[in-house]
Amino acid sequence: MEEKNKSLRQQALDHMFIQMFNTVQMAEEGGPLIIDSGNGIYITDTEGNTYIDGISGMYFRNVGHGRKEIAKAIYEQLSKVSMDVYAGVTPATVRLASKLAEITPGDLSRTFFSQGGSLANESSLKLAQAYHMRCGDKGRYKVISRRGSYHGATYHTMWLGGHPGFPRTDYQPRPSHVVTVPQPNFYRCEFNSSSEEECGELSAKAIEDAILFEGPDSVSAIIGEPVSQPLGGVVPPSNYWPMVREICDKYGVLLVFDEVITGFGRLGTWFGSDFVKTVPDIMSFAKGITSGYFPVGGTIATKSVANAFSGGPERTWSHAFTFASHPGGAAAALKNLEIIENEKLIENARLRGEQLTENLNELMGRHPIIGDVRGVGLIQGIELVADRSTKEHYPNELGVNNMLTDELKKRGMWIRVPAFILPISPPLTISKVEIDHMCSIIDESLHAVEGNIHLSK
Ligand SMILES: Cc1ncc(COP(=O)(O)O)c(C=O)c1O
Repeated sequence: MEEKNKSLRQQALDHMFIQMFNTVQMAEEGGPLIIDSGNGIYITDTEGNTYIDGISGMYFRNVGHGRKEIAKAIYEQLSKVSMDVYAGVTPATVRLASKLAEITPGDLSRTFFSQGGSLANESSLKLAQAYHMRCGDKGRYKVISRRGSYHGATYHTMWLGGHPGFPRTDYQPRPSHVVTVPQPNFYRCEFNSSSEEECGELSAKAIEDAILFEGPDSVSAIIGEPVSQPLGGVVPPSNYWPMVREICDKYGVLLVFDEVITGFGRLGTWFGSDFVKTVPDIMSFAKGITSGYFPVGGTIATKSVANAFSGGPERTWSHAFTFASHPGGAAAALKNLEIIENEKLIENARLRGEQLTENLNELMGRHPIIGDVRGVGLIQGIELVADRSTKEHYPNELGVNNMLTDELKKRGMWIRVPAFILPISPPLTISKVEIDHMCSIIDESLHAVEGNIHLSK
């Protein structure tokens, strides 16, 4: 068995590009982790080590691991109808589109399916631009996004937002139609605001300034996540999104919410839009719609956006992917949504989120390395700092993130820590006892890291 694992590991190192990773570091770590099975919030590797999955795969495993009922729903669907035809539909995809119209906020009601978050965002932004064309606004093509956000890995989406964890130096040129503005992150507010409200107001105002600077007739859309993950769950001040909504309406710019992570219960509400009390014109979704049991994403539009495409051939939205609307994905999504509803997982995310916030704030009292605790529901994070008063980070060469990844793993928790943020996003099925256990592992791991840093100074 040990030999077999070694050989698999070597084959992975020899023949795969592993996401975001270099093979030398992987080999030094004895990795990659080879997952063999999962159950609830736990994953087990091929050597029999079990870990709490503190990050839900990659923020997608909302209903937890080992859901045989979803596997069965996919099997049954594929045994009957396993494909879509060009310009056709299947009963499962139609049912899923109707279900989405029912659970999404406002009058979001017409969906284009895709295979993941990047393609969902690509589709949303293409839809926004095509919408303006149908309205006779031919010059609207620019897209505003917020620094610190992540919207995908395709050439277009990778240039939206921006985060040090996802360098883009290999991929020039930067598309000239992409404009970035500040993230409303009060802890590191670009305006040095003295209150959350001020940070929200100035960050929203920065969007208006960008629209005016670029020329309102040239701006197609603003894209943002209601609560942004890469910086550990940035919950914007409550005045921010309603103000942005007003600004969009004032200048005829479409508001696109990227709900790839925030959708399907993670914040303790069906969608992030419900949490921030703002309805977008277009919403992108992926990950939690199937909890990752089948790769599905999508773009859902309000009636007024969708109506611009109703009519004759000249109004058609010319957009397609071969595997959009796969019935296997629709079957997985329908069963996944049924589980979320039947097991009241949204309510659980809210309650366990409150408990997690309380526990993390308590840890902050004990660990000087914690600069800030942020997030809501089951998208939370800790920002690690070298000095609380200056908010300075440790130098990258010290590898604090790798030390913490290692200490968590030793204690039975799997979270790959990127840069200076410890992201915490377990499956929505997590129990009260499991939250406490997870926090005690974080507590011990931070102690160990603080000790290591002290030794290495
Ligand atoms: C907010 C957000 N949008 C888009 C994406 C891209 O999704 P995918 O990796 O499925 O293409 C991600 C992926 O992590 C994400 O977190």
